[in-house]
Amino acid sequence: MSHTSEFLSSAQARARWMRVDTAQLLKRFFFCERALLVSEASWIPAIAPLEIKTGLARFIWQSAETADALRKRVFELRFPSRLMEEQGADHALIEVFSAVKDSPSVPAFLLSMAEVFLPALRDSFQEYLEASDSIADGPTHRFLSLALSEIAEQISAFEKWGESSLATCPEFRESTLAWKQAMAKHLSDIGGVGVGPSSSATAAGPLPGAKPYAIPDNPARDSRFWPCRFYWPDVVDPTYPYGEGFQLQLRSAISHLNEVWAIENGGLMLSAFAEILPWEWVHDAARWTYDESRHCRMGYERLMAWGLNPAEIPLGTYIYCSSSGEDPIYRLGMLYFFETKNIRHKPTRTQLFHSYGDSLSEHDMDFDWADETMHAGYGKHWLKELLSTRGEDPEAYDQVRYHCEKLVSTYVSSATPAEVSDLKKVASSLIAKAKRQMK
Ligand SMILES: [Fe+2]
Ligand SMILES: [Fe+2]
Repeated sequence: MSHTSEFLSSAQARARWMRVDTAQLLKRFFFCERALLVSEASWIPAIAPLEIKTGLARFIWQSAETADALRKRVFELRFPSRLMEEQGADHALIEVFSAVKDSPSVPAFLLSMAEVFLPALRDSFQEYLEASDSIADGPTHRFLSLALSEIAEQISAFEKWGESSLATCPEFRESTLAWKQAMAKHLSDIGGVGVGPSSSATAAGPLPGAKPYAIPDNPARDSRFWPCRFYWPDVVDPTYPYGEGFQLQLRSAISHLNEVWAIENGGLMLSAFAEILPWEWVHDAARWTYDESRHCRMGYERLMAWGLNPAEIPLGTYIYCSSSGEDPIYRLGMLYFFETKNIRHKPTRTQLFHSYGDSLSEHDMDFDWADETMHAGYGKHWLKELLSTRGEDPEAYDQVRYHCEKLVSTYVSSATPAEVSDLKKVASSLIAKAKRQMK
């Protein structure tokens, strides 16, 4: 039946969502991305393989970039900023997304990401791109298409990591399956992510099989490497030289590889302060964590390119452990302490590597220096913000740095003579091996 009207009209799919409806949906996506990345960040220390730690850091950064673009777009649509800060009607949904943090085991975490949460987000982004207007909402289309291709890569990585982690600990197979099913059911009970109106369901509370998240005291380490607390003799013995020539090349790559602690601290501090500091903190901390993962990979790749064997390469834990059990402000302080302490050496070392004709070490150190310059700014800014949020003097950030220095020296003084002599043996044989590689 045709309806007569005195106005022009045409039924067009692109008019489906008005400006405010669009903003509501994008806000929902923002909170979903944010919840996932915060949980991913908190899990970095508990997962051993280096490839997963560095991969997670990269995915966290991708999600933070997507979330940031979503948030900016919501404001462009003149959505009231006071409403942006609240989850609003999507509260129950965000609670289910946040529950992945309390996964009972590493495979349960990885596989519920791969098979429940990321696919739900992928499907909603896909539906959104199909149903929204590429004219009026063109700016969203650009970054959401990119996000969709990143999620596809994330899903296959999480699937692969989850399966390999189950293969090493098959005792978790049953509980992982139960957890995935509980999560999927929970998500469907509240209506999923979708692109429809917000569900009126309330969150069901704690999930069966959930294990409340706790920061690990000791970080999991990739078993391919030589496990230790202190990763080079100069850490525990001030008379041991940092080295020159090929020993400096080696030492610098060992340092880069051992920045694995910085990825872990980055992830922990991101999640520890996600609810206290503004969104910009999560965004900066995600980039920071990703940068540290790139520094770690730089070291790994150089060591491998020189033909060295991971089993002979020390991978330590001391910087991570120095702030275990402490207020998480010292995780942030630890990054600030080491970054401000070491940055002055970097341009000199870049020059030295250039003079050795080692363009790879030169290249890595030079990029690292640029990242670290940015991080020193992050450290000072966010330590001050955190102190002021706590009602403390923001200028006391140097006291946090000083306390970190003390935490490290106390921890280093716990090194046992046997530990030091074992470490020196491993270091000498690695130096000898590297020397042989030059011939
Ligand atoms: Fe770094
Ligand atoms: Fe850094």
